[in-house]
Amino acid sequence: MTHETLLYSAEDFENKADTGLIMSSLQWLIDHYIAKEKYRLQMVRDLQLKPGNLVLDVGSGPGLWSEKLAEKVAPDGRIIGIDFSQDLIEYARENLQQSPYKDFVEYQRGDFFDLPFERNTFDVVFCSNSLMYLTDEDKEKVIKEKQRVAKIGGKVASKEYDGETIIVYPIPPELWLKMKSAVARVLSETASSDYYDEYVARKTHKIFLDVGLTHIDSIAYPIQLSYPLSPSAKRYLTQESEWLIKTASPYLSAAETEQLMSYFNPNSQHYVLDREDFWYLVVEIMALGIKQ
Ligand SMILES: C[S@@+](CC[C@H](N)C(=O)[O-])C[C@H]1O[C@@H](n2cnc3c(N)ncnc32)[C@H](O)[C@@H]1O
Repeated sequence: MTHETLLYSAEDFENKADTGLIMSSLQWLIDHYIAKEKYRLQMVRDLQLKPGNLVLDVGSGPGLWSEKLAEKVAPDGRIIGIDFSQDLIEYARENLQQSPYKDFVEYQRGDFFDLPFERNTFDVVFCSNSLMYLTDEDKEKVIKEKQRVAKIGGKVASKEYDGETIIVYPIPPELWLKMKSAVARVLSETASSDYYDEYVARKTHKIFLDVGLTHIDSIAYPIQLSYPLSPSAKRYLTQESEWLIKTASPYLSAAETEQLMSYFNPNSQHYVLDREDFWYLVVEIMALGIKQ
């Protein structure tokens, strides 16, 4: 997984804006969405959008969520997807042309620290997997900015995942847990130079409380993938797991790293992704709150 190519801090914008995302990042975002689409559709239903709603999708990326959000607000509503990456905006615009809901979605380039909209504009302000690159202080700034552009009585929603909850059967738990504990340690040690929050999902409830949103509801989704896995699910699981193992490697022996990698190598006898008993779980959490 190439987190660094998706990480834009406010200061990085000018430098990274037009350097482009490598295709594997875009491919990873698409695979991620497709692998979990069944659950994504449930999350979209749980937003309880109404026809006619004006919805902002913050950090819309390739726009796969925006198109699903559009189904719920058509024919009178509209989705605006906003993202800092010009490459992703262009991909999203092109991809949208295939969608029956293309007339109800538009994509704009913009910064989620400084959304280019008046206060009290949107019925719902949504974002998915866009806060994990931000420090806790910056997460709060972005949620406040989302709250600013939501209408009074409108909804703010953030969907993120929690890395502690990832289970991969049949990898031995003593090895998998050692690896995940090493990931937590490495991410904590590198936080000042290369921030990435594997545990963001558990924090959104408190941030929503702190910024003064009301009627807060955090819904947990146990996302499960099992045999037979689609090509998207295999690519997604391989990239996520390899990223975890590489991140953990400073605190693993070479033999442990090699053993863990072998579970995701299709040429290895230990490969798990084609096994009939393979089972994967990750918990994603969507926090919802109302602006008063
Ligand atoms: C992991 S991707 C998630 C994309 C999409 N929401 C999804 O779930 O498929 C995070 C997105 O946040 C965008 N992003 C990062 N920093 C941003 C910023 N400051 N303003 C707007 N978008 C930003 C990235 O370009 C990327 O598309």
